[in-house]
Amino acid sequence: MSSPLGKEIDRFEARLKVTGRALYAADNNVTGLAYGYLVTSTIGLGTVTAMDTAAAAGSPGVLAVYTPFNPLKLFAYGGDQNDESTPPLQDTGVRYHGQVIGLVVAETFEQARDAAALVTVSYDAKPPAASFPAALPNATPIKNSPTAGVLAPGVTSIADAIAASPVTVTAMYTTAAQNHNPMEPHATVAVWTGDHLTLYTATQGTPLVVSRMSKTLGVDAAKIHVLNPFQGGAFGCKWGNWAHTPLTAAAARELGRPVKTVLTREQLFTVVGHRAFSSQIVTLGAAADGTLNAIKHDGVSSRSASANFQENAGNISLNTYASPNIEINRKTVTLDSPATTIMRAPSDATGSFALESALDELALKLGMDPLALRQKNNSTVAATSKKPFSGKHLDECYRIGAEAFGWSRRNPVPGSVVDGDWLVGMGMGTAFFSAGRGAASIKIRLRADGTAVVSGTGSDSGTGQATVYCIVGADSLGIPLKQVTADFGDSAAPVNANAGGSASTASNGTAVQVAADAVKAELLKVANEHPPFQGKNPVYERGFVKADGVSMSFGSLLTSLNMAEVEATATSPKNPDTVHQFMSFGAHFVEVRVHRRTREPRVSRVVSVMDAGRIVNAKAARNQIMGGVIMGIGAALLEDMRLEPTGRIANANLAGYLVPVNADIPELDVRFLGIPDPLISPLGARGIGELGIVGVTGAVANAVFNATGKRVRDLPITCERLQ
Ligand code: MOS
Repeated sequence: MSSPLGKEIDRFEARLKVTGRALYAADNNVTGLAYGYLVTSTIGLGTVTAMDTAAAAGSPGVLAVYTPFNPLKLFAYGGDQNDESTPPLQDTGVRYHGQVIGLVVAETFEQARDAAALVTVSYDAKPPAASFPAALPNATPIKNSPTAGVLAPGVTSIADAIAASPVTVTAMYTTAAQNHNPMEPHATVAVWTGDHLTLYTATQGTPLVVSRMSKTLGVDAAKIHVLNPFQGGAFGCKWGNWAHTPLTAAAARELGRPVKTVLTREQLFTVVGHRAFSSQIVTLGAAADGTLNAIKHDGVSSRSASANFQENAGNISLNTYASPNIEINRKTVTLDSPATTIMRAPSDATGSFALESALDELALKLGMDPLALRQKNNSTVAATSKKPFSGKHLDECYRIGAEAFGWSRRNPVPGSVVDGDWLVGMGMGTAFFSAGRGAASIKIRLRADGTAVVSGTGSDSGTGQATVYCIVGADSLGIPLKQVTADFGDSAAPVNANAGGSASTASNGTAVQVAADAVKAELLKVANEHPPFQGKNPVYERGFVKADGVSMSFGSLLTSLNMAEVEATATSPKNPDTVHQFMSFGAHFVEVRVHRRTREPRVSRVVSVMDAGRIVNAKAARNQIMGGVIMGIGAALLEDMRLEPTGRIANANLAGYLVPVNADIPELDVRFLGIPDPLISPLGARGIGELGIVGVTGAVANAVFNATGKRVRDLPITCERLQ
């Protein structure tokens, strides 16, 4: 039997999902369920002066209509970076268009929705600050570390370093706000049993919900149980604590009925956050041979007046390339918009567009190949932190990717390659994202039926994390994969990494390894106390207990001892290595075709080569990078959340907010170096969840320039911007 580690493995829950047996949050239909429907504001700023709820309250099946004038009591949030500043309905303030200002609860979903439409609201409206470009002059430095960077000895300012550089480029780049749009909308089902609360809710971390609901509902955390094993995508918008969850729980408590609230697609645009707008100025200074001497990256991102999150677009420039002089400036502009929040590679997906575009502009000015410019400034030591990178093989990504893609065939003269009606261009960009490993606990149960169950709080937002539990469990226990199942997304399990920050596999996979050792020790202890292994100090080998020529599978042994199972829980610490800079790396090579009459840009080929340590599941890992690349293509060419001057999002639906469909995406060639990184953990796996999107938008823009000679510095790159 060979280990499944690193093979192409189907998700262990795949069959459950495609047969409808995997219950997503909204699929939990409990006895006596009532249905909530959110009422949202239709002005961008001001106060609610009155709400007429009589018609709604009197319509069929309605159980309650909660408003700021008939609120459910909630306590203040805790100030987490992903929270809004105020819980819903606790005051009459309207801070953005689409803010939750009411909850209607009825016997059926349709009754709740129809009644919600009958609520009439009077406002005292004020003009909102809802234009990012108009507000840009008011940008203010973020509170902590507004500037960061490094200067070479003897250099007194970044301006001096730029002035002393023989070749410089400087330009402004902007990116559109983007919305996560997971396929599965957020939903919460709240069930009270006495003073105990069970929540089925879409979340990237069940412990996150426990701690926040404990605070805002005023309930002991030990009395809150959160379950969310299956998710249809998250991308960051299922991390924060959004209004529907505490409202649904509080309504269920007050009504003495379980309540389910599901967000509409339109509400997903305003209630659960988005990726900020950005405006960035990048200045690069280099020697004539392309050696970077200065990087200055001034990033301004939008933030919401009513939420805590702040994006830092310039962060990407701190350590991606070697340069003796680097300065980044972090500013925000406050809008009366829905919350900005984390979205796949927060800050870095945005920042890499400007940095990778600027490098392409520098390469042109130097008369240098853009790949050669990256190779020249590739480094083994992080420029700002001065820490050596752990296991960096980016040079191999560049080399293998260029070869597979045929980069040497790139014509450096823009607009010179024509294929029928299409102008063809090539561009590239570097992928770079942090690779964390946090503390994590895992429980493993060895059962009398011969199976092993690996459990932890960890969520699987569609990434394949639960299958990582199974693969590493089977590998560590030396048993066939089909004997291992995962139990996850349950706040009652040992606490491990939430689904975010590209740290799940590094953290949780390592914990599975130590838990496997612990449960083997527990099994042997039990075996040594009973016949046939009593006092014989048996050993564990590939699922069998052995001593003196006697060998029994753990299932047979437990059955003979009349024990249902043995279990052990173990914790692996956060990465003890503080000496190295832990990142994942990669290179994207992109070919685009721009129609010479319509100027429609299409991506026609992509090769992505990733250096992310050991790959645990080749299939799911490839899927993760493909997802990142597709999201990057969406950001480059299509995605554009339109905030009107009124503060209303004009395209809060999947007809007006464009995302790539299959016809927009060519075959994606994704490869991994697969070199284990023993410094991050014994498992050697680094993060891949966010890596794939970083560098893609720049690579697409650079390819568009190569195809057309037109440099588009504003995302998305639409036909209009290519005229
Ligand atoms: Mo993600 S943006 O790490 O939730």
